[in-house]
Amino acid sequence: MDQFVIQGGNRLEGTININGAKNAVLPILVGSLLTQEMVILNNVPYLKDVLIMNKLLQKYGAEIKSKNNIIHIKSNILKKTELSETMVSKISSSVLLVGALLNRFSKVKIPLPGGCNIGTRELDFHIKGLGALGANIYIKNNFIIAEANKKLKGTNITFKFPSVGATHQIIIASCLADGETIINNAAKEPEVVDLANFLNSMGADIKGAGTSIIRISGVEKLGGTTYSIMPDRITTGTYMIAAAVTKGNIQINNTKIDFLKNVAEKLREIGVEVIENNEGIRVISSDEIRPVEIITKVYPGFPTDMQPIVTPLLAIAEGESTIQENIFNNRYNHVVELRKMGANIRIDENIATINGVNRLIGSQVTALDLRTGATLILAGLNARGKTIIDNASQIERGYENIAKVLNLVGADIERRF
Ligand code: EPU
Repeated sequence: MDQFVIQGGNRLEGTININGAKNAVLPILVGSLLTQEMVILNNVPYLKDVLIMNKLLQKYGAEIKSKNNIIHIKSNILKKTELSETMVSKISSSVLLVGALLNRFSKVKIPLPGGCNIGTRELDFHIKGLGALGANIYIKNNFIIAEANKKLKGTNITFKFPSVGATHQIIIASCLADGETIINNAAKEPEVVDLANFLNSMGADIKGAGTSIIRISGVEKLGGTTYSIMPDRITTGTYMIAAAVTKGNIQINNTKIDFLKNVAEKLREIGVEVIENNEGIRVISSDEIRPVEIITKVYPGFPTDMQPIVTPLLAIAEGESTIQENIFNNRYNHVVELRKMGANIRIDENIATINGVNRLIGSQVTALDLRTGATLILAGLNARGKTIIDNASQIERGYENIAKVLNLVGADIERRF
């Protein structure tokens, strides 16, 4: 079965608490391999992707105890292992294991990573960057193979594009290297800052995270730490849209508007009220949903992950909106499914033109990737009648208890296994 079944039309009202960020905890879990001492992580979201990453680390010998959103990890003895292609291919951040493990072994071999099918997801910056740090690294028969007979050596690396994953990779690989590494044109996303803060709390010397130049001075050793994962900004954005598409009024706590400024601005332009308060963010929908133009950009621009998510709202706006996707080259999976629900959307290369309809219509659709799945939940909340979403487990890769959270504020969502 693996379905979510939604009865649409309920107005959402109440309070939602935001969990820790998927895209921060995954690199941080990998970073925990850089010490033999105990790492304690708080505010860890309970997600399928986190469970998979834990399994990968356990395969290498890490001892992991997980309870109530807290994880204890100890990686004092690591062993070489063969990771299964099916497990590695489920999450894109498995590639970060290369940079971490090169600090523990002279040779690392892992299957090519996967993740959402939203574009080509190149790895050239990872490979060039690790190569510049002194690794002999290449791809052969669907495996990444990296060798380094001595310590990695700090160097100057310039990315052609500020890739989040490649920035994570080089930070992780270089904090125990000899000398200084400078990353130019680094990604500025808050999840990069969270990784740097985490590693600094272990004794690393990383400066400039959150700007486009990051300087990492290699240290001899990293120690244990207790660290709390940042709130998930895309989950926050998803629940902001949930209020907007249901004519709702939701208070979203344990999160910050700071890293969603661009999304908040767009929502205000659309007519939705977004109010920052002491506890978090209040989002109040409006009777008039105005069309807008959205262009995805790297941080602090409009996030690509929010591009599918905002589409159901634009699909019910009074007029024509456009979205230009600039980060991934195939991120319109959700459009095919939204059309089944009555949305009027045209795609022309990387631009989606959306002509608003009065209301979406319940239908049977498929969560082709994580954010497409969340998008369909939002569409189902708005729709007249019943929406059935197949492949529901995709959504659980990135959202903790999404049905329960939304039902507590008035939605009618059933999980069918
Ligand atoms: N790119 C290259 N070469 C590289 C690396 C990336 O050309 O070596 C290109 C990619 O092909 C892509 C663009 O650069 O077109 C952006 O990729 P980036 O490396 O920044 O993305 P990522 O690290 O693979 C992370 C998040 C994504 C999020 C992007 C952009 C994780 C696990 N994933 O992916 O999250 O969309 O950054 O912010 O952190 C999601 O959560 O649904 C998701 C897809």
